[in-house]
Amino acid sequence: MINNSKKVINLKNIQSTIILGENLSSLIYSCKIFCIKGKLGVGKTTLAKGFISKLTGVQNIQSPTFPLLLTYDLKDNLICHYDLYRLKSSHEIWNINIEDALNNNIVIIEWPEIIENLLPKNKITITLNEVDSEYRTADIIGNKNLLDLL
Ligand SMILES: Nc1ncnc2c1ncn2[C@@H]1O[C@H](COP(=O)(O)OP(=O)(O)OP(=O)(O)O)[C@@H](O)[C@H]1O
Ligand SMILES: [Mg+2]
Repeated sequence: MINNSKKVINLKNIQSTIILGENLSSLIYSCKIFCIKGKLGVGKTTLAKGFISKLTGVQNIQSPTFPLLLTYDLKDNLICHYDLYRLKSSHEIWNINIEDALNNNIVIIEWPEIIENLLPKNKITITLNEVDSEYRTADIIGNKNLLDLL
């Protein structure tokens, strides 16, 4: 049974968002699917950068806004970073291999709403909210035992 709970974390500046991404990346051995929600420009890609850089050492992480998917090798696995903002219908997902990724890879999805019905229960969902110019909050929903590690 999935014992989900919610944790709220205050992010006072960009660096705090990157550190949260780094900390979330330590959970990949227990959870492989991370959804990042929040309005345009709130900091979703910044969070993903902290996550991916920590695991891969790659520093210039780009936004997958136009390709929809960017991948990074991680040992014998793959990190799949999606941005589904430009996806107009859930039919288009056949072009971007998302079901395969959800079953086999480490997956980070910005704008996951359009494929919500494909997502498994075992995932972590982070919703970023803008409070002030640099101040964000992160509402994180996922397995309680994992959230306790953050
Ligand atoms: N606390 C913060 N955390 C993250 N980004 C912040 C923060 N404060 C300010 N910013 C700025 O907000 C912008 C966030 O851009 P980013 O590309 O990460 O947003 P996004 O949510 O991925 O946008 P999109 O919806 O277009 O994908 C950056 O310019 C960043 O410097
Ligand atoms: Mg983005």
